[in-house]
Amino acid sequence: MNEPSERPRQSGRPEREPFYLPAGDEVAIFERCHAQHLAVMLKGPTGCGKTRFVEHMAWRLGRPLITIACHDDLTASDLVGRFLIGHEGTRWVDGPLTRAVREGALCYLDEVVEARQDTVVVLHPLTDHRRLLPLDKTGEILEAAPRFQLVVSYNPGYQRLLKDLKPSTRQRFVALDFDFPPAEREAAVVSHESGVDSAIAHALVGLGRQLRELQDRGLAEVPSTRLLIASARLIADGIEPRSACRAALIAPLSDDATLLGAMTDLVELAFAR
Ligand SMILES: Nc1ncnc2c1ncn2[C@@H]1O[C@H](COP(=O)(O)OP(=O)(O)OP(=O)(O)O)[C@@H](O)[C@H]1O
Ligand SMILES: [Mg+2]
Repeated sequence: MNEPSERPRQSGRPEREPFYLPAGDEVAIFERCHAQHLAVMLKGPTGCGKTRFVEHMAWRLGRPLITIACHDDLTASDLVGRFLIGHEGTRWVDGPLTRAVREGALCYLDEVVEARQDTVVVLHPLTDHRRLLPLDKTGEILEAAPRFQLVVSYNPGYQRLLKDLKPSTRQRFVALDFDFPPAEREAAVVSHESGVDSAIAHALVGLGRQLRELQDRGLAEVPSTRLLIASARLIADGIEPRSACRAALIAPLSDDATLLGAMTDLVELAFAR
């Protein structure tokens, strides 16, 4: 039996507003989708702010957030719930999707393409105007609480040829595109999240952009804002910038000696003394 990996349930609001620097009108669009009972799909590469955006929106809208990391063993029962046998007999236990539907939470399914199609179809009736969740095993049909909202994310580049969402699923969502932000904004994020000063944040972001260009030379995974932040945190904590970048920025990206050599040269140039 596979339990879905789920973040600890948040009771009420996080203490502080999760910091999110918008790229455009995504906050307003999401708020309107929430009001209009429209499900939302966030598309974009790893580490570009999708999860942070959902955390921020849940806070803004004053809703609990229930996150489910999708994987190919995830079953419909993992989402909806199941009967468990205990000392006192059999009892029904809601899955995270069912809890979100009852509580009127934001339910965020991360990397939804990883889930099998027979799992994903459970979401379909929730995206219709009636917003229903049939619990086949109990015979109940739940109507979603008014402020329930479904949010899914996926990374369009990743394993694109192997996995994709079916049109019947895709067309049930309003899609918001995410990407790495312009340099000025990415530097502001890096600085805010790590505590490094603006000069170091800009140097890291400039380096990140040069590394992203190596995609044309065979670098399969380009560095995300997340990796820039990890490097910045090490620097803020006293690690010499070039060592921090080698460990936190370039080593995670590749094992190829030629590519690593080229990336190391760029690091040396970015933080030359
Ligand atoms: N616009 C932004 N505002 C604030 N923080 C951001 C922003 N974009 C990225 N970040 C920072 O980058 C980190 C990584 O972003 P996040 O975890 O949201 O990525 P993701 O798109 O969900 O990636 P994945 O697809 O791997 O789950 C965040 O923890 C946050 O520190
Ligand atoms: Mg995420």
